[in-house]
Amino acid sequence: MKDRLEQIKAEVQAQIIAADTLEKLNEVRVSALGKKGALTEVLKGMKNVAPEERPKIGQMVNETRAQIEAMLDETKKQMETAMREAKMKEEVIDVTLPAKKNQIGHRHPNSIALEEVERIFVGMGYEVVEGPEVETDYYNFEALNIPKGHPTRDEQDTFYINDEIVLRTQTSPVQVRVMERGKLPIRMIAPGRVFRSDEVDATHSPSFHQIEGMVIDKHITFADLKGTLQEFARELFGKETRVKFRPHHFPFTEPSAEVDVSCFKCGGKGCRFCKGSGWIEILGCGMVHPKVLKMSGIDPEVYSGFAFGIGLERIALLKYEIDDMRLLYENDIRFLKQF
Ligand code: DAH
Repeated sequence: MKDRLEQIKAEVQAQIIAADTLEKLNEVRVSALGKKGALTEVLKGMKNVAPEERPKIGQMVNETRAQIEAMLDETKKQMETAMREAKMKEEVIDVTLPAKKNQIGHRHPNSIALEEVERIFVGMGYEVVEGPEVETDYYNFEALNIPKGHPTRDEQDTFYINDEIVLRTQTSPVQVRVMERGKLPIRMIAPGRVFRSDEVDATHSPSFHQIEGMVIDKHITFADLKGTLQEFARELFGKETRVKFRPHHFPFTEPSAEVDVSCFKCGGKGCRFCKGSGWIEILGCGMVHPKVLKMSGIDPEVYSGFAFGIGLERIALLKYEIDDMRLLYENDIRFLKQF
């Protein structure tokens, strides 16, 4: 009998060692200690044992049972510990690893240039206003003294929503919208996107940006316009900058001018940057046409004013010495990061 018990113990031990999961270990427990298990089998055979032998055999069976239980429990504990350790190892976070770098964006050269321009004019007491990009023919052309059939319309061909609604070709319509508010005096700049049906090349895009400016008050003269833009140019391009006003024509100003600044690269001597002329054109301007004032409900006998229009991309390209406008629209982070 003792041999039989030793044999059972050895078999169960082998099964325990072979069990590699908790489920299999449990199967071993059931087959060894359960109702149909080998030990129960031995107990059932007790009726063939002499009565005086029974207590001794019973004790031996109990001891074997206890030993098997101890082996099962110990193995279960070991398995659980190993599993927990494996899981912890899997989930470990190595705090010494270098952190993943977040790619943060960068302000667009247009935005940087615009903020600079805004800073200068806000410093002179100007208000920053906005107008709609989808504009009526009236505000974009008519109210700016550009009636239907006017040759200026050819230069500013745009995208027509219908006969009366266009994508604005200039920020100048914002002048009209502000004048119509009827609050005087006016000192405003209006930055924003404009559209023209131009082919894309190094200096053209069907969508670009302008910054409109306008001042209306009593006794505003061309001298105020010159002084303002001179100061603006000095702030933007450096104290040494000189400005030159060349007579020009715009339908909504009289007289009108285009403004050049002395080349900030060569100081005016002439270089590759200013194409040898020493001057760089930066904007259009003039005294607001009396007809334009009248159309917007302002008495030109009492009030006068000046206006100007700056190409934002032109400023950004000049300031950052970028030679192709298309680079501004590709949004390549390697390009944008340089400014
Ligand atoms: N709107 C003009 C353009 O797109 C630029 C301009 C010129 C605006 C003279 C003005 C101005 O306000 O007075 O070509």
